[in-house]
Amino acid sequence: NGVVTLDPGYKNTGACESAITFLDGEKGILRYRGYAIEELAEKANFLEVCYLLIFGELPTKDQLTKFHNDIKAQSQVDEDVKKILDGFPKSAHPMGVLSSLTSALVAFNPSSVNVDSEEDMYKAIVKILAKFPVLAAWTYRKRMGLPLDYGGESLGYVENFLKMMFRKPNGEYKTNETILEALDKLLILHADHEQNCSTSTVRIVGSSHAGLFISISAGIAALWGPLHGGANQAVIEMLEAIKEDGGDTKKYMAKAKDKDDPFRLMGFGHRVYKNFDPRAKIIKKAADSVLETLGMDDDVLDIAKALEKEALEDKYFVDRKLYPNVDFYSGIIYRALGIPVEMFTPMFALGRLPGWIAQWREMRLNKEPIGRPRQIYIGETLRKFVPVEER
Ligand code: CMC
Repeated sequence: NGVVTLDPGYKNTGACESAITFLDGEKGILRYRGYAIEELAEKANFLEVCYLLIFGELPTKDQLTKFHNDIKAQSQVDEDVKKILDGFPKSAHPMGVLSSLTSALVAFNPSSVNVDSEEDMYKAIVKILAKFPVLAAWTYRKRMGLPLDYGGESLGYVENFLKMMFRKPNGEYKTNETILEALDKLLILHADHEQNCSTSTVRIVGSSHAGLFISISAGIAALWGPLHGGANQAVIEMLEAIKEDGGDTKKYMAKAKDKDDPFRLMGFGHRVYKNFDPRAKIIKKAADSVLETLGMDDDVLDIAKALEKEALEDKYFVDRKLYPNVDFYSGIIYRALGIPVEMFTPMFALGRLPGWIAQWREMRLNKEPIGRPRQIYIGETLRKFVPVEER
């Protein structure tokens, strides 16, 4: 009827119906396809969760084996992609590189663009699940000046990724079960989160029928920002800065509350969770146990715990319902696993990949219309053009 209602940040606007992820922000509930996140993090592996999110059911053994074999069969990346990677300066942020390489994949896989049948969608899905971990590992290895290679046919999906990241130049690699389990859990916890910023980006780009890979490339760009996935890098940088500054958490709490200071307590607050973030609870516990099992000590973990305690007792944070989110403790685990800080957000992207795919697939299967928000125009009314000589 031409009436436009404003909702900046889409705080109260639903854009789709979805059967993928259920989230109750008041009660701190998160479920993928009806399964509690706590149970999945404990009992499932990441590839099973990928299948569950994308296709709606936990796979049988045979379905999982076929899915994995189909992925493995597509893991080769065109050799020319290495030349593109070579063109980036070593200092380039991995998220920018990854977004670019993911869009470059379209050029080498043109058949992945116009996918109307479920069969063609499946082929595109399997390709991106296969090639994205290769791109992520290569982005890291290029930064480190290490040779770019593949993992091993017999390895699991996550184990293969770890091997691609960390195999020595002589090819040696030994799986560490603690690291493998911890990474698997982190990826599961990040795998979907309904209509967040990057997922909405994927859906809206995909709604123009622009193809899966390019929609994911846009999702990676959206995830990069420090208010979204980039928060995991920002948290560790903040904790390090507090440590350098003598560990004075109270000073940073005061900065976060000061409305004239742009500083925010990174890893705190969430658009939907107004009680607690169930992922943060699981990750906090995992951080303790990973450090203990690996026999490591990280003094920023103590700073993080002190900040959390102070914030939970502070009127400013309590009034605004600001709690630690998924990114508050994840960086501490990534660091313990040997993953450098600039790779934290790419790890989030790897975890979120199945969620983006599932949401894109759902959007296409539901034949959703092109995403196109409205606006309320507040600019000038009609003006006469003035030639440049007269301005
Ligand atoms: N530190 C200090 N104050 C905060 C923070 C924070 N981290 N987060 C929100 N606030 C204040 C904000 O200033 C506002 O105060 P007031 O009502 O006085 O103006 C109030 O809380 C509400 O904040 P908002 O910005 O309107 O809330 P939002 O839903 O638009 O933003 C958020 C949510 C996650 C972007 C925000 O809480 C934030 O910037 N947090 C820090 C970044 C972060 O950790 N992001 C990761 C989010 S979880 C993972 C993911 O999404 O990828």
